[in-house]
Amino acid sequence: MASVTFDKATRVYPGSTKPAVDGLDIEIEDGEFLVLVGPSGCGKSTSLRMLAGLEDVNGGAIRIGDRDVTHLPPKDRDIAMVFQNYALYPHMSVADNMGFALKIAGVNKAEIRQKVEEAAKILDLTEYLDRKPKALSGGQRQRVAMGRAIVREPQVFLMDEPLSNLDAKLRVSTRTQIASLQRRLGITTVYVTHDQVEAMTMGDRVAVLKDGLLQQVDSPRNMYDKPANLFVAGFIGSPAMNLVEVPITDGGVKFGNSVVPVNRDALKAAADKGDTTVTVGVRPEHFDVVEHGGGEASKTLSKDSGDAPAGLAVSVNVVEELGADGYVYGSARVGGEDKDLVVRVNGRQVPEKGAQLHVVPRPGETHVFATSTGERLSD
Ligand SMILES: Nc1ncnc2c1ncn2[C@@H]1O[C@H](COP(=O)(O)OP(=O)(O)O)[C@@H](O)[C@H]1O
Ligand SMILES: [Mg+2]
Repeated sequence: MASVTFDKATRVYPGSTKPAVDGLDIEIEDGEFLVLVGPSGCGKSTSLRMLAGLEDVNGGAIRIGDRDVTHLPPKDRDIAMVFQNYALYPHMSVADNMGFALKIAGVNKAEIRQKVEEAAKILDLTEYLDRKPKALSGGQRQRVAMGRAIVREPQVFLMDEPLSNLDAKLRVSTRTQIASLQRRLGITTVYVTHDQVEAMTMGDRVAVLKDGLLQQVDSPRNMYDKPANLFVAGFIGSPAMNLVEVPITDGGVKFGNSVVPVNRDALKAAADKGDTTVTVGVRPEHFDVVEHGGGEASKTLSKDSGDAPAGLAVSVNVVEELGADGYVYGSARVGGEDKDLVVRVNGRQVPEKGAQLHVVPRPGETHVFATSTGERLSD
């Protein structure tokens, strides 16, 4: 087992001037499950392939433990990779597929059989060992691909979107299995996905990439609570964080009829940049509904403060009822523009389409970003 270090690792593909991965700096601890996430083309696979030795590194270094592996061939790195398409050999049985790498490495038959049987037990594949891949379900094939990696007892597992060929339901159960298996085996794992929910539910830490540049590497909790910039704020979380550009006023920012107090240092930092606005982020679950109008009569739901209708008037366009709660997709007039907003509401008090809600961001749950640079200003 070992740590993994990307030390300003850079990859520029031949014929391109812009790096596909640009100065990637991450230290992954021994036994950690690190997820690389970001939109398509952001450099996730390239990063993983550099670690695997399948892609040249044009700048910086990569280390596994204290070994510099930057220019080592893949076979000398002690890693095992699980690909998106599994790449199973169709003419070989499950057992032979799982043991193939050991056979190539010259391990004796009895030992291969023992390791394959152990892995099969862990993965619930024992009764399928004699079958060919075509006689397996998608989920079982995925587990064979995992098994092939496990029998090698590598120092590091690399997985590139290993669940993307499974249907939605199986993807959810398999992600739990992989995460718990990884914790049990304790093998350092770098896992690539474009799915932020997968990233947040599986990773000890999550690294967000955009255009080949690392945006933030953090625990799922911190990533959600303190996104480092506007990109991460919009990318992590579903439905996404509401982001509105609002003018800076004395003591806060103007949000409809209310001035929402925000961190003074944040506002000062914005003013120092010459910005007259900041971009305020509020997650859908962090709006309080202070007044709920429309229908036959309007009623006040909460807030016994006498200053209603405070806050921001949101016209309800679409309501998504999920049972426990609901999401209101509405629009509001902010800073002279119509802006789409998402507000989470109590499942038992879901407004109707066409109604109007007044909402205020919950104190202490706002995020402030510099409009000009996108960087987080609030702490
Ligand atoms: N073999 C290649 N040759 C040239 N450009 C490539 C190659 N592979 C990937 N790229 C480019 O590098 C960037 C990152 O690709 P990739 O790492 O595959 O992204 P991701 O896995 O995040 O979708 C993309 O712009 C892609 O077009
Ligand atoms: Mg990819």
